[in-house]
Amino acid sequence: MPEPRILDPCCGPRMMWFDRQNPAVLFGDCRSETLTVPDRSHGRADGTRIIHVCPDMRMDFRALPFPDCSFRLVTFDPPHLVRAGAKSWLAAKYGALGPDWRDDLRLGFSECFRVLEPEGVLVFKWSETQVGLRDVLALTPWPPLFGNTSGKKAGTHWLVFMKWK
Ligand SMILES: C[S@@+](CC[C@H](N)C(=O)[O-])C[C@H]1O[C@@H](n2cnc3c(N)ncnc32)[C@H](O)[C@@H]1O
Repeated sequence: MPEPRILDPCCGPRMMWFDRQNPAVLFGDCRSETLTVPDRSHGRADGTRIIHVCPDMRMDFRALPFPDCSFRLVTFDPPHLVRAGAKSWLAAKYGALGPDWRDDLRLGFSECFRVLEPEGVLVFKWSETQVGLRDVLALTPWPPLFGNTSGKKAGTHWLVFMKWK
């Protein structure tokens, strides 16, 4: 089996993936755990859901353990909460950023681009719940090419970048 050429360095429970076991993808995260979170959707009788965060490899997106130019595609979907209560199920499921979130995201972007090969593509996902997209884009070394930036009501934005120069 060839080495995966797609990296998801903060995969969490892999909710966004159509195939959560895709062998072309290296799934990473800083934690590995199983959680029970409140969930009353879809008529769940006991009001809970079990979430598995099981990366192929533990890693820190601020210091990725790969040589330069290792991947063709990187997806970057970091936590978007900077304020979360101790009982927040959203923070339990998707993580939360610390007080140095600007430095952390700046390093995260820098590392994602470093491990991309020339003309590699970065797909970035961000929810504007607490921090505006504009503030986060100030932390990227490359400008986005295109994406959906349809305002706070739409919530989640997807942006596409290429390491093209
Ligand atoms: C928004 S969630 C990812 C959700 C995921 N894309 C999905 O489809 O379910 C963000 C993840 O980043 C992880 N994370 C937070 N800080 C990290 C770091 N420094 N390095 C790697 N992963 C980190 C959290 O543990 C969390 O699982």
